[in-house]
Amino acid sequence: MVRGLSAQLTVLKLGGSVITDKEKPLTPNLAAIERLAKEISRANVSPLVLVHGGGSFGHPVAEQYGLSEGYKDSSQIMGFSITHQVMTKLNKLIVGSLINHNIPAVEVQPSSCVVTKAGRIQSMEDRPLRKMFEMGFVPVLYGDVVFDSENGFAILSGDQLVSSLAMNLDARRIVVGVDVNGLYTGDPKTDSLARLIRHITLEELKNLEPLIEGSKVTDVTGGMLGKMFELKPAVEHGIQTIIVNAAEPNRVYKALKGEKVVGTVIER
Ligand SMILES: Nc1ncnc2c1ncn2[C@@H]1O[C@H](COP(=O)(O)OP(=O)(O)OP(=O)(O)O)[C@@H](O)[C@H]1O
Ligand SMILES: [Mg+2]
Repeated sequence: MVRGLSAQLTVLKLGGSVITDKEKPLTPNLAAIERLAKEISRANVSPLVLVHGGGSFGHPVAEQYGLSEGYKDSSQIMGFSITHQVMTKLNKLIVGSLINHNIPAVEVQPSSCVVTKAGRIQSMEDRPLRKMFEMGFVPVLYGDVVFDSENGFAILSGDQLVSSLAMNLDARRIVVGVDVNGLYTGDPKTDSLARLIRHITLEELKNLEPLIEGSKVTDVTGGMLGKMFELKPAVEHGIQTIIVNAAEPNRVYKALKGEKVVGTVIER
């Protein structure tokens, strides 16, 4: 493994809240996907690992079949298959768009390389992934249903993947794209007084946690609260982490280029 390369690694999450219309089941936001592929291509950072969320693909199906609590009865089996299938459909749109913009993107299916234990990543076959980014490919993972050593199966959020990949691959930084400007003092969609936090430490985050909410739309992995929970260990690990609005043109581009950008920087 080429250590120098890994130390330069960027892990970018494209929120399901941006690449899909979270209000309408199974509806991609093709314009956003296309624009983001252009921004990623223009920024031209390497190595890069991409992770995308479920948005209106994964979340509603997983909820319909009650997959969050793991395997309870055989009626969920088809639910697992369908949840995975809709995620691969969304993934194909992203990978296709990246390839159209000359990015050598390759799908990596979490359900085929990760096993969780009570919902937490227990093992991951990451050798193909390491090889990919060493060779200049851009692996594209996503929130997925995976097999779980205790509960039969589990939902693995894109957020947990981002944090775990960044730590295991010794990434330099994490860029998280969502549909709001960053972390606020309350949910900006429901609280008109919520203020954007431009910079926060882990200590300050602890005090703010009671104010962070999930998501007003279906999000089986805890919305913004779940995201912060997942990002904390990576920040603790010393990885530069920024949350930006990927629904606004050029924010992801600027974050990838390391330019000054509206968003929330989380630091140890
Ligand atoms: N304190 C907060 N600051 C910012 N956003 C918040 C806060 N509390 C709740 N939210 C909500 O969290 C949402 C983002 O999380 P959500 O899980 O819906 O998106 P996502 O992670 O991009 O989607 P996916 O899980 O499909 O990838 C925002 O749309 C916002 O309404
Ligand atoms: Mg989410």
